[in-house]
Amino acid sequence: MSLIKPSIREVLARVAVVPVLTVTEIGQAVPLARALVAGGLPVLEVTLRSDAALGAIAAMRAAVPEAIVGAGTVVDAAQLAAAVAAGSQFIVSPGFSAPLCVAAREAGVAMLPGVATASELMAALACGLDTLKFFPAAQAGGVALLKAFAGPFPGVRFCPTGGIDIASAPGYLELPNVLCVGMSSLAPPGLLAAGDFGSIELRAREAAALR
Ligand code: 3PG
Repeated sequence: MSLIKPSIREVLARVAVVPVLTVTEIGQAVPLARALVAGGLPVLEVTLRSDAALGAIAAMRAAVPEAIVGAGTVVDAAQLAAAVAAGSQFIVSPGFSAPLCVAAREAGVAMLPGVATASELMAALACGLDTLKFFPAAQAGGVALLKAFAGPFPGVRFCPTGGIDIASAPGYLELPNVLCVGMSSLAPPGLLAAGDFGSIELRAREAAALR
């Protein structure tokens, strides 16, 4: 079974950064997860944007038990089912979808949907979700929008993702309604292709030290 205990909110509160990963070769999965865990970032989002993604999730779960592995870019119930079958411990979606929220609940898996407006946020709350991805963070309004959400939605916590890098992350992390941030730049295609997991670990270490 692949449920997160404790909750997705508690898990995200433990880390400064969630690496957003696109794995194109299955052989990259385990050394990548090991490098990120060694660097202090055990919560991983593996996007379903490559043929290797589901296999990568399964390989990470089997070989790196210290990692908490979620599937990202999940947009429909079929993808959610496949991600859960591969061992995903949480599901990340770029947007909010009520059917996907219900599918996650029925599957018993934690869901982190993306929102970028007050209306989307209210739809997520109505589905019982109060820990949300803010996506695409920089493009949708960044720190200023998160500050604006804090007034009407004091109980909601966010993992902003999209256009955030090491330089801009601290501005998000200091907000009381931000648990952590997501970013893809820790494991760029060039380093992955070169098998340079040492550099990825160093990047993770720098990111983990942000808070
Ligand atoms: C995502 O899927 O969450 C984003 O592509 C990550 O955004 P970034 O590439 O700007 O970090």
